[in-house]
Amino acid sequence: MEVTANRTEGIDPATRVDQLRHEIEQHNYNYFVLDNPAIPDAEYDRLIRELRELEAAHPELQAEDSPTQRVGGQVGQGFKPRRHPVPMLSLANAFTHEQLDAWFKRVSSLVPNATIDFVVEPKIDGLAIALTYGQGVFTLGATRGNGIEGEDVTANLRTVKDVPKRLRAEPIPDRLEARGEIYMDSEGFERLNQRRAEEGAPLFANPRNSAAGSLRQLDPKVTANRPLHLWAYAIGYVEGLSVRSQSEALELLATWGFPVNPLIEKYREMELVHEYCTAMARRRESLPYEIDGVVIKINSFAVQEELGAVGREPRWAIAFKFPPLQATTRLLDVGVNVGRTGAINPFAILEPVIVGGVTVRLATLHNELDIQRKDIRIGDRVIVHRAGDVIPQVVKPIVEDRDGSEQVYHLPTHCPSCGTELVRPEGEAMTRCPNVACPAQRFRWIEHFVSEGAMDIRGLGEALVQMLLDHHLIHDPADLYELTAKHLLTLPGIKEKSAINLITAIERSKTRPLDRVVFALGIRFVGDQTAERLVNAFPTMDLLARASIEQLEAAEGIGRKTAEAVAAWMERPDNRDIVRRLHDAGLTWKAERHDDPDGPLTGKTFLITGRLEGVSRGQAETRLRELGARIAPGMSKSVDYLIVGAEPGSKLDRARKLGTSTQDEVWLVHLLEDGSIPPDS
Ligand code: IVH
Repeated sequence: MEVTANRTEGIDPATRVDQLRHEIEQHNYNYFVLDNPAIPDAEYDRLIRELRELEAAHPELQAEDSPTQRVGGQVGQGFKPRRHPVPMLSLANAFTHEQLDAWFKRVSSLVPNATIDFVVEPKIDGLAIALTYGQGVFTLGATRGNGIEGEDVTANLRTVKDVPKRLRAEPIPDRLEARGEIYMDSEGFERLNQRRAEEGAPLFANPRNSAAGSLRQLDPKVTANRPLHLWAYAIGYVEGLSVRSQSEALELLATWGFPVNPLIEKYREMELVHEYCTAMARRRESLPYEIDGVVIKINSFAVQEELGAVGREPRWAIAFKFPPLQATTRLLDVGVNVGRTGAINPFAILEPVIVGGVTVRLATLHNELDIQRKDIRIGDRVIVHRAGDVIPQVVKPIVEDRDGSEQVYHLPTHCPSCGTELVRPEGEAMTRCPNVACPAQRFRWIEHFVSEGAMDIRGLGEALVQMLLDHHLIHDPADLYELTAKHLLTLPGIKEKSAINLITAIERSKTRPLDRVVFALGIRFVGDQTAERLVNAFPTMDLLARASIEQLEAAEGIGRKTAEAVAAWMERPDNRDIVRRLHDAGLTWKAERHDDPDGPLTGKTFLITGRLEGVSRGQAETRLRELGARIAPGMSKSVDYLIVGAEPGSKLDRARKLGTSTQDEVWLVHLLEDGSIPPDS
């Protein structure tokens, strides 16, 4: 490799070894995490070989953490290979309705006497996996790989909630291999990338890569923290049970506890199949996960067998493919937004391009580090990806298309809104405007405060928020509660009716539950779920406001960074003042209790520790409250029942010391279903 040879000249071996290790780590990352190798295998091998030779010639440079000690010269040795007992086939594609009809004609001519039913399924854009169960217990999970041989990712799949660890109901077969797609939902993908952008970690290109990378982590703890899900859609093989059709297979999968996509339909007529494809292409946008087409399967297994396969593609199924969600266009310029916590977010101004039927003009660029890492330059032709209804992103530049006129981009040195000099705190990836009174930050803050997931003040859109700020009627969220219709009528274009409606909406927001109020405050790292966790642990705003970093960190699911951010926010006098005024305005200050005073669990206190597999903790707690129970913020003598999920924490030790009754998830499920305390588990 010429580049390496040139670079080596005149460089001392220690520096070169460092350089190589760095470069190889990056390629490992591209391969394992991003699932997107940047160089051919042969080139990677050459880098490894050069490093190995240098280490051999200079034993003093050897190191235990050198990539040569781990990869053995080959990529992909992290997981054991698994041969699939029944090959995992792929699908032929149809890109038009005509091609779909042609497929059907071919099929009908091959099995002229058969009655043909179709099962139509969304084609999930994730990665195919095979899950093996012995006597109903999950024993092995493998990726599809090349269809013949995949990788053993059992430990990682165990951390995915949707994957049943045990089949739920009869008939339990001796052996079963269920198949399906592991995917990341669009919102989870965006949240993960946002978190990575904050941390300065490389970003995932799309939900599919993100799911693949997350599943192929060498450390299952990393996988456990990724928003992975499963849709099961096939039985690879089953012993001791006869299954005659795809629809029967799907029913069985659902009975066993696998998530089966509710959009799957069964049709008799090809016309309805066409309609389904058209409808699904339209619906694609509003689904919370990505689909790249529709899979059409002949229902009867007997007919499937008769039709057989051509090479790796069965004749009995076809994928109707949607247009890709990626397109290339030119990056015209880069602009910046100031976020609610002062983060400076660069965005791409693009030559308008249609991506999956929607015109894209703007796309996120996350942060300066990511722009540098991907080496995106103004004037570049770039690949743009649009995931569901989340913000499009620039994936990468097409370096080969450069003509030399492209410009390297640098973030502005001063805030475009208030002119304050921007800072990039040590160890952080995001550049920030440090001015808490920055008008752009105020605007975003209030916009967030009134948004649907927060205080949900309908009718208070962007333009009106800006107008209220410009006219000095508000400058923080608490001011909203001091507005009167008379104030609003002083604004241009505001009529009496809309003024009254807005005041009513503001008034109504006072009953929003405490976790929404905490979320609305706009504290860094406190998203809706974190707010819920905070409120679970600190059921009044006063308790939360007084909590120390240590107390906050001790709460379930709250990390150090969040704890620090909450404590720092609550400590600031201007924020304290806002909290006090919100209190005086009459906002919800205590966690809402749905406790039924006469419920079957009234007077009983519960606490959940560890991970639940079948229900979410939030759902379980809501249901328990509906039955009259109280959920304790922590382990104490007042807890009557501790529900113990997978990998429980120290609460279990404490419960044992206190002699508290401990029960498992199965017991909990019985309780939630029957509404009465089951016998001990
Ligand atoms: S059936 C022979 N059903 O599409 C049957 N596959 O291009 C092959 N996929 O590797 C699998 N959703 O990763 C099937 N509802 C669905 C699917 C689906 C997504 C993926 C799967 C497979 C690829 C084939």
